[in-house]
Amino acid sequence: MVKASTQYVCQQCGYASPKWMGQCPNCGQWNSLVETVINQSKFKSKSKTRGVGFAEPVRLSDVKKEDYTKRIATGIGELDRVLGGGIVTGMVVLIAGEPGIGKSTLLLQIADRVDRAPVIYIAGEESATQIANRASRLGVTGENISLIEETDVDDVISQIGPTGLIIIDSIQTLTTQDLTGSAGSVGQVRECTARLTSWAKKTGTPLFIVGHVTKEGTIAGPRVLEHMVDTVLWFEGDRRESLRIIRTIKNRFGPTDEVGIFSMEEKGLAEVTNPSNLFLGQAGKVPGSVVTVVMEGTRPMLVEAQALVVPTKLAFPKRSASGVDPRRVELIIAVLSRRVGLPLWEHDVFVNIAGGIRINDPGADLAIATAIASAFYDKVIGPLTTPTTPTFFAIGEVGLLGEVREVVGLERRTKEAKRVGFTNSITNKEAKTVSEAIRKYITSSNS
Ligand code: TYD
Ligand code: MG
Repeated sequence: MVKASTQYVCQQCGYASPKWMGQCPNCGQWNSLVETVINQSKFKSKSKTRGVGFAEPVRLSDVKKEDYTKRIATGIGELDRVLGGGIVTGMVVLIAGEPGIGKSTLLLQIADRVDRAPVIYIAGEESATQIANRASRLGVTGENISLIEETDVDDVISQIGPTGLIIIDSIQTLTTQDLTGSAGSVGQVRECTARLTSWAKKTGTPLFIVGHVTKEGTIAGPRVLEHMVDTVLWFEGDRRESLRIIRTIKNRFGPTDEVGIFSMEEKGLAEVTNPSNLFLGQAGKVPGSVVTVVMEGTRPMLVEAQALVVPTKLAFPKRSASGVDPRRVELIIAVLSRRVGLPLWEHDVFVNIAGGIRINDPGADLAIATAIASAFYDKVIGPLTTPTTPTFFAIGEVGLLGEVREVVGLERRTKEAKRVGFTNSITNKEAKTVSEAIRKYITSSNS
């Protein structure tokens, strides 16, 4: 095979060099040169495939339309939801996530249940034996799944005939011999994705691509591929916990505000269709615990904010936050110190959102603030009617002046809380300020 010639192109300014350099001599950016195939036969190949010299203008009204309402079900409802109702012909989906989060597990489950056989699974990451072992653990028989253990992208493409669905696990293991860079380099990852994507579009075959997110940054992350694919799904969760969430970062064929919720079980990923019941252990029953309702996509979901407040002699008391932005917690602590008068400058404060979920919803502010106050006073939020049935929940954004602000979707959130049995709301309607909320529901409560 004739090797295509390549050059190194600066991703910042477009400067091209025949060899790799650490710093771009044109714009001064470091590590910005990426190996790229020079396509000398660009015009010739175009005229061959289209039968015309150049792409001619086409009237918009004459362009052949496709029916995106026709969807292929993946067989996993929570996934169909994030895809916008299922897979579309020729759709290229990137599934990104940290190693060990469950990407291969999910893809094997899709391969088993998708309404589109046969499925070809390109195994670059693990051996066929390892995948077979996982399949039997998941209860996947695999009659409709064929494995190809191959990492050369051009060989992969030449080997796959007509098929229902292709799975690439993972893109960081594939290479093309046209580039000299090693597997996982930005150049390789992009070029392999480009070749697979163009093949998928030409044949109308849906394609799922796994991309690892790594902290070291030695392997090109899924971010460099986002613009090349139709849909980007972000797989997240705390590996020590069972909860897994799939978010849509980009979707050319559907909404981007949906999430799919799963739990990692003994036999793979199980769908969680009723997430509110998942995170409420001791919620609201003990000091330092306050229930709130966050929006995950378009779904309201009950979560528990937990706080621990401990006296300290340190000049810089500890502030620790998990499951929520630490800067948000700092701000709430500042409001509690300045506007409510809690002497938190002489206390360590720890805040946690229970269940391993990460939230990014200002509607949880009031719950975090009241949880800290509840921990500080060592009193539960209330008054509780009976100690075993907590009924209070707090929803509201906290402003710098200590005011409680209304958040979007308040009605839907409140309805969900009531459905699960939390009947007493603390929102901007019940308390105009954080100070008022704490006075009414913590310090003067009889529990
Ligand atoms: P895996 O799908 O291999 O992750 P990735 O492809 O994203 O690297 O799954 C990783 C973890 O999931 C692994 O630590 C074991 C766990 N697991 C289960 O808990 N139950 C199961 O049924 C399977 C297959 C895996
Ligand atoms: Mg894997």
